[in-house]
Amino acid sequence: MTKNFTELVFATMNKNKLSEVQKMLENSDIKVYGIEGDFNPEETGATFEENAFIKAFEAAKITNLPALGDDSGLVVDALDGRPGVYSSRYEQTDEKRNNKLLRELENVEPGDRSARFVCSMVIASPDGKKLFSTTETCEGEIALFPSGRHGFGYDPVFYLPEKNATMAELTMEEKNKISHRGKALGKTVKWLVSGRNS
Ligand code: IMP
Repeated sequence: MTKNFTELVFATMNKNKLSEVQKMLENSDIKVYGIEGDFNPEETGATFEENAFIKAFEAAKITNLPALGDDSGLVVDALDGRPGVYSSRYEQTDEKRNNKLLRELENVEPGDRSARFVCSMVIASPDGKKLFSTTETCEGEIALFPSGRHGFGYDPVFYLPEKNATMAELTMEEKNKISHRGKALGKTVKWLVSGRNS
């Protein structure tokens, strides 16, 4: 399979993520589809990239089309990289996850609270080839308390020193410009549209 495919499946049940990708590719000759029905492959990978590939390959097999998979999470240095690939399974709700994180960092000084959001995006073919892969990060620190109402997940406790704000205090447009997911999506779209039909 060459890169000149005109159809791509995004291996996600998240309608916001799907429309974001569709919007970025609306002026290209690539049509992006979501995945129908229940799609929840087991995320058994040890890395974000492995999990992104698992999702992409599963969707590609089901649809017989090339598929994009993504996986993301929060890596905290003082916790040896946790919650990492377990970010969504760390606790049952966003509030509980954030409280647990703050509790675990209770005795960690402001200078030692470095963390990063990580996002991997992988495009796989139905025969299991990895056609493209990128992993992007957004560096910050874990705040001392939650702040802000935008975004989701760990955004209220993720402090960006250069913005003097948490991720949840940024608008969606501001977040997309600097976020791990925004950067990974930018690289993916660039790869998809570059050198086509050549
Ligand atoms: P997934 O890649 O959509 O499975 O996300 C994994 C988990 O990582 C989410 O449930 C959130 O807890 C966390 N996460 C990933 N990206 C972000 C973000 O941009 N802001 C806050 N939390 C995030």
